Amino acid sequence: MNADELRQLDFAWLWKGRGKTTEVEGRILLELLDKVDRARVLELGAGNGRLTPFLRKGAETYLGADAVPEFLQELAQGQAPFSPGSLFAANAYHLPLPDKSISVCVLVRVFNFLDEPSRAMAEIRRVLVPGGTLILGVQVRPSVATLVDDLKAFLENLPSREPLTLGGGERVQVRMTNVPAWQYRTRELLKILSHEGFALREVRASGLEDYIVLRRLPGRFFLRLSALGQPLSLFPTLFLLLQSGKGEVPFRWDTPLKFVCPACRSALTRPPPDLPELRCAKCGYRAVITKDIPDLRWVVVENRSGKDRQASPSTT
Ligand SMILES: C[S@@+](CC[C@H](N)C(=O)[O-])C[C@H]1O[C@@H](n2cnc3c(N)ncnc32)[C@H](O)[C@@H]1O
Ligand SMILES: [Zn+2]
Repeated sequence: MNADELRQLDFAWLWKGRGKTTEVEGRILLELLDKVDRARVLELGAGNGRLTPFLRKGAETYLGADAVPEFLQELAQGQAPFSPGSLFAANAYHLPLPDKSISVCVLVRVFNFLDEPSRAMAEIRRVLVPGGTLILGVQVRPSVATLVDDLKAFLENLPSREPLTLGGGERVQVRMTNVPAWQYRTRELLKILSHEGFALREVRASGLEDYIVLRRLPGRFFLRLSALGQPLSLFPTLFLLLQSGKGEVPFRWDTPLKFVCPACRSALTRPPPDLPELRCAKCGYRAVITKDIPDLRWVVVENRSGKDRQASPSTT
């Protein structure tokens, strides 16, 4: 998936009439944040920022990043002002943050869009403090939602479509939005996370509030329901609270966060005479700053001569 594909995500269409889902997910996030060190919380893949107000409330310091800078500019317009640098464009595979620099990373409805989730999980683990937290909101199968999709496909007589509930291997490509994504079996998801060093601490489940017939029930009902975990594969969305390695408690948060070069991880400097950009003296990488939002994306792209080059639009 590259940034041009992701840019096509149409949030207004996607979230029309689904305020109850955002309310339930926001409240689950707040409850989970309450259990961990939330000194510095990074929302990775913040999108249109529907969950950002909840996370800003729950975090001591909030950071928001996305592969599409335009999403962040829109997000910033609709909310209380952000301090400069707390929103930045970044690629989950090459975060512009030093090792052990954040306490929580929140990833909601993003994992399913990653072509190589293991690589992104390893990168998140690098920037988390030892014992830090990953909160993952993810679509899984089998679930009632995948069963409903299978029934619809059967009734619409779509024989070419693989059934998601029972078949389809450990991960299948699906269209949950107008951009293709991946859907995982729960056990495969947990395998990837454990392989990357994340230990599962808690499971909250949600998504039934997304069904029109159930939407009228109060948010607190779904919040209670979510604490049941994932009985009988009922829920389409899981919120996993995961811990990265062992904690060095208490972690000292007195050093201010400074961006590093996403290409070589050296410190970035702001060149005189106050140009709206950040520069890496070591490798020459430059990040342009637009409306206080630095574009800190970078990827390795093989060109014909086999050399790496800077190519911000791609996200792998
Ligand atoms: C479906 S949206 C979810 C947005 C928000 N978290 C929510 O729950 O409404 C997925 C978001 O992940 C971002 N994203 C996908 N791949 C990414 C990557 N490699 N690095 C950073 N952000 C990425 C997309 O640009 C998009 O904003
Ligand atoms: Zn560099």
